Amino acid sequence: MDLNHKTAIVTGASRGIGKAISIALAKEGVNVVLAARSEEKLMEVKKDTDSFNGNSIIIPADISKEKDILNLFNKTKKEFGKLDILINNAGILIKGNLVDFSVEDYDKIMNVNLKGVFLSCQQALKIMIPQKNGFIINISSNAVFKGYPEQSVYSASKYGIVGLTKSISNEVQKDGISVALIYPGGVDTELISYARPDIDKSVLIPPEDIAKTVIYMLKLSDNSWVDEICIRRRAAKPF
Ligand SMILES: NC(=O)c1ccc[n+]([C@@H]2O[C@H](COP(=O)([O-])OP(=O)(O)OC[C@H]3O[C@@H](n4cnc5c(N)ncnc54)[C@H](OP(=O)(O)O)[C@@H]3O)[C@@H](O)[C@H]2O)c1
Repeated sequence: MDLNHKTAIVTGASRGIGKAISIALAKEGVNVVLAARSEEKLMEVKKDTDSFNGNSIIIPADISKEKDILNLFNKTKKEFGKLDILINNAGILIKGNLVDFSVEDYDKIMNVNLKGVFLSCQQALKIMIPQKNGFIINISSNAVFKGYPEQSVYSASKYGIVGLTKSISNEVQKDGISVALIYPGGVDTELISYARPDIDKSVLIPPEDIAKTVIYMLKLSDNSWVDEICIRRRAAKPF
């Protein structure tokens, strides 16, 4: 697909992987809607996207809140009249052994990582189905394959995204909409510094590699689609 003049929402655009994806999309000529809670940090990212094209906008949103999601998608539709691409990237990780894990922390993770993706897909499809086209990429995690200790609830939320994505893909294929998953491994962001301080930063994946993966998937010809890509640290165990 030619990405020039497409419109994309990127959640979790204020730093890390979402920031890198937003910049890479802007470089391709995409109008990027930058969404996250921190308006200040989004403004910093907008300076970067504006250096490629001036069509990015900021919409502060807490994706765990339905009213924020409605505002995000309604404003995007009003501003650009369409939505071609949704990147469900925002996510949180709270570490802890299951036996001590609080219900409050369980709810926090699920509300952002799973309910946020459910609500965003729902609103995106309400725009994309009448358009008869659209692309959704959901960021899951290598954690779903590995079973890391102290990440059981995080892993469950990321596994939830897998089920959601596979089912939605089959629901909306007939409407010309393609949905995919990326499972990143250790990427050099704040999240991994907190989750895995044991990993030497020099072997972490640069966030730009996840952004390149997104661009690769979106730029394939109209006859091709990649359902899922697993990208791991080269230093990590294969498969
Ligand atoms: N880093 C890794 O190794 C790794 C590996 C596998 C998967 N992932 C996944 O990749 C995604 C991005 O992670 P990252 O490593 O870039 O983490 P990060 O540096 O911590 O960034 C997380 C982003 O999500 C946003 N966010 C958090 N809670 C939010 C909420 N309630 N509403 C809206 N935005 C929210 C944050 O912005 P605000 O704080 O401004 O809201 C921030 O922009 C996550 O889904 C994560 O699970 C990361």
